[in-house]
Order: sequence, then structure tokens, then C-alpha cells
Amino acid sequence: MAELLIYGSYGYNGRLISEEAADRGLEPILAGRDGEALGEQARELDRPYRAFDLSDPAVAEELSDVDCVLNCAGPFSNTADELVEACIESGTDYVDITGEIPVIERVKRRSEEAEEAGITLFPAAGLSSVPMDCLSAHLVERLPDATRLALGSETLRPPSVGSITTLLEGLEDGGAIRNEGRLEYVPAAWKSRWIDFGRGVRPAVTMPLGDVSTSYYTTGVPNVEVYTFAPPPARLALRAHRYVAPLLAVEPVRKTLKRIAQLAREGPSKRARERGSTYFWGEARTEDGTRAVSRLRMSDPYVVTGACALAVTERVLDGEVSPGYRTPAGEFGPEFVLGIDEAEGFFDEGTP
Ligand SMILES: NC(=O)c1ccc[n+]([C@@H]2O[C@H](COP(=O)([O-])OP(=O)(O)OC[C@H]3O[C@@H](n4cnc5c(N)ncnc54)[C@H](OP(=O)(O)O)[C@@H]3O)[C@@H](O)[C@H]2O)c1
Repeated sequence: MAELLIYGSYGYNGRLISEEAADRGLEPILAGRDGEALGEQARELDRPYRAFDLSDPAVAEELSDVDCVLNCAGPFSNTADELVEACIESGTDYVDITGEIPVIERVKRRSEEAEEAGITLFPAAGLSSVPMDCLSAHLVERLPDATRLALGSETLRPPSVGSITTLLEGLEDGGAIRNEGRLEYVPAAWKSRWIDFGRGVRPAVTMPLGDVSTSYYTTGVPNVEVYTFAPPPARLALRAHRYVAPLLAVEPVRKTLKRIAQLAREGPSKRARERGSTYFWGEARTEDGTRAVSRLRMSDPYVVTGACALAVTERVLDGEVSPGYRTPAGEFGPEFVLGIDEAEGFFDEGTP
């Protein structure tokens, strides 16, 4: 059986994904930098574990007998480069659940090296990338001459501590969009519009989510904006970020905010996850103004993240994925998401 190692297995997402991987019979090796946390988790799940820090020069040795690493240790700006480097050296496939644009861009730049090493690099195999990438590809199938994609999602449940920490890490950069094929950094909440994600019209603002990269690489549509539901207080806070961003660059301020985030909560409970749902919306436009809209509804964001990451990982382990940098719909087609987490199908509106 192909060997899977889950790095960051004892974080919030890592735990959910490791449990699900064990339930699916993938027999994961648990891994991370905290031996004590790993030991405890390993006993609970009856799985072996490996404790190693990514600053350790021998990371590649830890992976020498591993077929695929699933990286759940975020912020990925601190972990992806090191693991990708080690994977290229050891000939191990790499999958992660990042939504960080700079990380996806850096991983993609290593595509040729990965091809030479015969390994797959599959960053952004979680939320929102898998549903949004499939929705983007579906829209472009409907409207092949599209030159603009606007994408967005809505979930009412607050994020995990790790997601908040990652957001704080990324806040300094403000926002980002894809403009005529180029990644362009713009202020946070740069544009706002009203969007019907599937539950009625809601206010939304642009956010620097990974789909700005992933959907562009899959579809080749040169203009991509990604929106997220933002009620008025959130919009104000995001816009105020333009003025407080310099403060976030000050290390003690960042540390204090992260500590507050850590104290805030343990992450969404099982009950909250069972009741959660996520609405995805996408709009394609051509230069002559033809417009197509499609929507997708899935369950709780963290359930979807795990289900997507494991659906990708299973295919990688089965040797179904080509070497080099890969994207969800680019590799498996738009329908891929429909086999995951009871997604009911694409809901299409507009022409054609
Ligand atoms: N795209 C998606 O689908 C999606 C969905 C949800 C979350 N996320 C992202 O996933 C990440 C994890 O979220 P979470 O809620 O699981 O966070 P979490 O509970 O804080 O867990 C983070 C994990 O990463 C490890 N880690 C962090 N920095 C590390 C480093 N430099 N070296 C080694 N290990 C490191 C932590 O280990 P220590 O405890 O030892 O620090 C911990 O195991 C976040 O970046 C979040 O934004 C992505």
C-alpha cells in the first residue's frame, strides 16, 4: 500500500483529516514538530508518527519511504517551501490545503523540477480551491470565450484559529486579483458588490484567496476576482485595514493578535460542522457582455476541506495524477467536485 504522511496532523484541520484518512483505510503516518502532541494522537488513532521540524536539514530523509505528503500545517508560508523542497529531493508527491496566493505561486514555479523528479505538486486541494476551480472550469465550458471570472463564497460560520492566524499573516499584503494574466496586489476589500450566492443577495468584497491563482491556471481566463460574503462591520474592518496595515507589520502587535486568536476558541465543534454549509457562486463574462452564472452548494467548510483534500490525495496515491504542478479541475475536470461531499450539482443561470 502507498505510504501517506500527514504533516501538521494534530492541528484543527490536520486532526479532522487524519481521522477521516484512518477511517478510509489510508493508514496515514502522523507527523509534525510536536512529539508530545503526536504521541497522544498516535495512541488515539493507533497510527505511527514521526516528529521533525521543517528547519531540520534531514526532512527529505524522513520522507524517503513516503509516497505522498499531505501538508495541513499552516500558515503554509512557513511550511510549504520546506516540504516541497524535501519532496523533490526524496521523490515524494506533495498535496496541501493552502489558500495562500504567494504559496501557490511559489509551488507552481517548481513545476519543472517536480516533473524531472517525477512527482506531483498539488497545492490548494481544499477549500475554496477545489469547488471554485471546478465551478470556474464549468463556467468556461458554458462560455468558452470568457475573459472575466468573478468567484465568491458564503459561509455563516466563523473560521478556526488557524484560519484566523493565516489571515493575519497574509493581511500585510492587502488584497489581490488577476488582471490580464498578471497577479496584481490591491488594497484589502478593494471592490464590493452584491451577490446572490444562493441564499438571496448579500454584500461581498474582494479577498486575496487562492482561486486568483488556481482558477487562472486551470481556465486561462486572464481576469479573476474572488469575493467573499462580508456583512457591513467586516467590510468596514477590512477597509480600515488599509490604514492599520503598517501596524500589523510590527511583530509585537501581530503576536498579540495571534495570541488573542489562540485564546478565542478551539475551532468549530462537531455539532457546528454538522450544521454548516457553504455556497459557491461564479460569474463568467465575455468581452461582448455575455454573462453566465453558476452556483454550487456544499456542507461545512471544514468538512469540505477534508473531503476535497482526501479525494485529491487518494488519486495521487493511486498514481492517477501526472507529475508537475496540478490543479483540481485542470487534472480531473469540472465534474470532480460533484463526487465529493454530496455536492448536488451545478445550478446554472443566464446564457448560454
Ligand atoms: N484551504 C482550505 O481548505 C483550508 C480550510 C481551513 C483551513 N485552512 C488553512 O489550514 C491551516 C491550518 O488551519 P488549522 O485550523 O488546522 O490551524 P491550527 O489548528 O492552528 O493547526 C496548525 C498546524 O500547523 C502546524 N504548524 C504551523 N506552523 C508550523 C511550522 N512552521 N512548522 C511545523 N508545523 C507548523 C501546527 O503545529 P504547532 O502546534 O506545533 O505549531 C499545527 O499542527 C491554516 O493555514 C488555515 O488557513 C485551509
